Amino acid sequence: MKTTATTPVKIWDLPTRIFHWTLVLGIGFMWLSAELGGLWMDWHMQVGIFMLALIIFRIIWGFVGSDTSQFGFFIKSPVNSIHHLKALKEGGTLYHVGHNPLGAWMVVFLLAGILFQALTGLFANDDILVEGPLYGLVSESTAKALNGLHHWWFNVLLLAAVVHILSVGFYKIRKRTNLIKAMVSGSEDWPVDQQPIPTTPKFKSPWLALSIFVVCYGVVYFGLEALSRL
Ligand code: HEM
Ligand code: HEM
Repeated sequence: MKTTATTPVKIWDLPTRIFHWTLVLGIGFMWLSAELGGLWMDWHMQVGIFMLALIIFRIIWGFVGSDTSQFGFFIKSPVNSIHHLKALKEGGTLYHVGHNPLGAWMVVFLLAGILFQALTGLFANDDILVEGPLYGLVSESTAKALNGLHHWWFNVLLLAAVVHILSVGFYKIRKRTNLIKAMVSGSEDWPVDQQPIPTTPKFKSPWLALSIFVVCYGVVYFGLEALSRL
């Protein structure tokens, strides 16, 4: 097989990479803990609150974070997404500085979808032992509806995650574009024959990201405590 010379280009900052792999572990844990039930539901709710803070952090990072993590940087018009789809049919590798115009919409869907999942969880209950911290704030019928959504929406999320993982696999196998390595190490092996070779994007401090996350977690945790006492 023909090998192309490559040069490393840093794409992802540390906070976005930690965010991604924590999110993956978190979703796995949320599913497992819900399946196990019983005492695991306490952990389900604690970790769920952490996941809510994590998503809120990522949304804020999407406005104030490193270039490649900013929504304004990677969200492109649907016309661009169609161009990308057409380019996929042609051969060769397809590196992008950050999310490609098609994958970007999946990223938005996954982030919004997980936010919705966590928010509906706050009102969920199992009629016996566990209830989300905001269960008491709404009528019984509203809580029932939100609980139903919390159950049903998880299947939609799972489907989206499967499509996401298959797409990443498609790039690896069919396009010889190793997106996974970049999400782990931060750098893409940019083929030198894919011109122009981009300049390194601007990165923000991981300490800024950590501070934003700590504030998000604090506000969500204590905010929910206060609301649950109303
Ligand atoms: C529950 C499962 C998963 C969820 C919910 C999920 C969600 C996401 C999200 C939200 C992003 C955007 C990252 C950001 O900009 O903050 C992303 C990107 C990415 N994910 Fe996942 N992910 C999942 C599983 C996986 C797995 C198992 C892999 C590896 C096999 C993977 C590989 C990637 C890669 C490579 C990117 C960057 C794509 C690009 O270069 O545009 N994901 N994922
Ligand atoms: C990303 C975040 C979350 C995911 C992926 C998730 C996922 C799930 C799943 C798959 C179920 C079980 C459905 C079933 O048994 O068929 C469930 C149930 C439940 N979740 Fe979550 N959840 C999340 C966040 C939360 C949060 C933040 C809370 C509350 C703080 C919460 C509270 C509950 C409760 C009380 C149930 C039990 C409902 C019942 O048994 O009818 N969840 N969740």
